[in-house]
Amino acid sequence: MRAPATAATLPRLLAGISDEGPCALEAHQRLHGPLPPPLRSKRERTALLDEVERARLCGRGGAYFPLAQKLRAVLAAGHVRAPRYVVANGAEGDPSSAKDRTLMRLLPHLVLDGVAIAGDLIGARGAVLAIGADAHDAQSALERALQERARADEGRPRTELVTVPNRYISGQETALLRCLEGGAPLPRFASPPHQRGLRGQPTLVSNVETLAHLALIARYGADWFAQLGSGHEPGSVLVTLWGAACNPGVYEVEQGAPLGALIDAAGGAAAPLRAVLCGGLAGGWVDSSEAAMITLDNRALSKRGLGLGAGTLLLLPEHACGLAETARMLRFLAAEAAGQCGPCRHGLPAIADCFEETLRGHRGARGSKRLLELAALIDRRGACSHPDGSARLLRSALRVFARELEWHARNGLCPGCEAEPILQLRPARAPRALAISGAREGARSLR
Ligand SMILES: Cc1cc2nc3c(=O)[nH]c(=O)nc-3n(C[C@H](O)[C@H](O)[C@H](O)COP(=O)(O)O)c2cc1C
Ligand code: SF4
Repeated sequence: MRAPATAATLPRLLAGISDEGPCALEAHQRLHGPLPPPLRSKRERTALLDEVERARLCGRGGAYFPLAQKLRAVLAAGHVRAPRYVVANGAEGDPSSAKDRTLMRLLPHLVLDGVAIAGDLIGARGAVLAIGADAHDAQSALERALQERARADEGRPRTELVTVPNRYISGQETALLRCLEGGAPLPRFASPPHQRGLRGQPTLVSNVETLAHLALIARYGADWFAQLGSGHEPGSVLVTLWGAACNPGVYEVEQGAPLGALIDAAGGAAAPLRAVLCGGLAGGWVDSSEAAMITLDNRALSKRGLGLGAGTLLLLPEHACGLAETARMLRFLAAEAAGQCGPCRHGLPAIADCFEETLRGHRGARGSKRLLELAALIDRRGACSHPDGSARLLRSALRVFARELEWHARNGLCPGCEAEPILQLRPARAPRALAISGAREGARSLR
């Protein structure tokens, strides 16, 4: 193991960012040293797999599944000599998240190192890095990085960069695989990717941030990784802080850090807060008084029915209308569904319609009861978890904005409904809002 260039403090992933643009190969290697050589024997592979297991690195694409378990499943699947593939998931379909795009744009070599190491671990024949079609800045950073490292990567399987449609569902792993094979982003469920993935072969699908953490664990080890974080969730995590923060942007935080510390690191709240949306569009609202007590780790969040998901935190100011924000999100989620199953084809549009009618006061006090009935009809009934995310968002909005709901039932739209949305849904996704200096400051001050 190398002596850590990034100490047991933050920033770790973001240590290489600068105002100059993407971190070039030379600067990247100056910081972290060269990519460890390919694993030559089963013994070396087992040793690194054990290290990843000890690090307890969990996926950062939303579900927090342990990476080591996934790697072992890919290795155990199929024929011993079956070709295996790595798919790095940089689709980032949730428009409330910008951390993957930021990571790929600023630190392309860290992500590509992670792809190469994952490839070593499963003896991959090839790797694909999938990226959203609108992430032009990240695409050009990765293209340049791939050219820069062509010589250093000799002897390793090729990493191909492939763009996928800007759809919420594109990042769902089986929809992503279908896109990579030339199809539309539609989830499929014959068998999981570790058994039948790219080209029908055992495939590791991992989020790009997960792979960037892997690149550091392979260099510095599990003990170093665990020097940050809470006991059960070691390490750091990237979050996208939007809305009423003085410096919105992408921050690296220690797992288990208080949300209040992140907001302070982002210059504080720009206005008194009404609520926080935790975990992105498939996440949940939490009242500002409760938000002041939450810490950013999944175990603690799950006790409140919340999760970090893709790492988005949206600060809703008091003058905004949380119900109007939720109505736009529910409409977006209904429009973005693949429409293959009943809950998506019928349930999500019905929820979006009923929510808007409730907001306008057309359903009186019966609106929320009907919405809860509709949520129960779609829960766990889709072939993927997309409808469950919408139901979670809906229920949390009904709970947190109960006061506003009563007002809307009597009076219809409020002044906040007419205001500029706090979260811009596609196509107005604005990478300009990402404060690089904010990210550095946030990364520094959360320890
Ligand atoms: C509707 C839906 C959308 C998803 N979108 C993304 C995404 O944009 N990026 C991502 O990495 N994972 C996304 N996921 C999770 C992936 O299916 C998969 O679990 C993940 O890429 C695995 O990587 P990880 O283990 O590193 O988290 C999505 C899942 C669902 C159900
Ligand atoms: S639940 Fe929705 S998004 Fe998931 S597979 Fe079915 S139609 Fe597609």
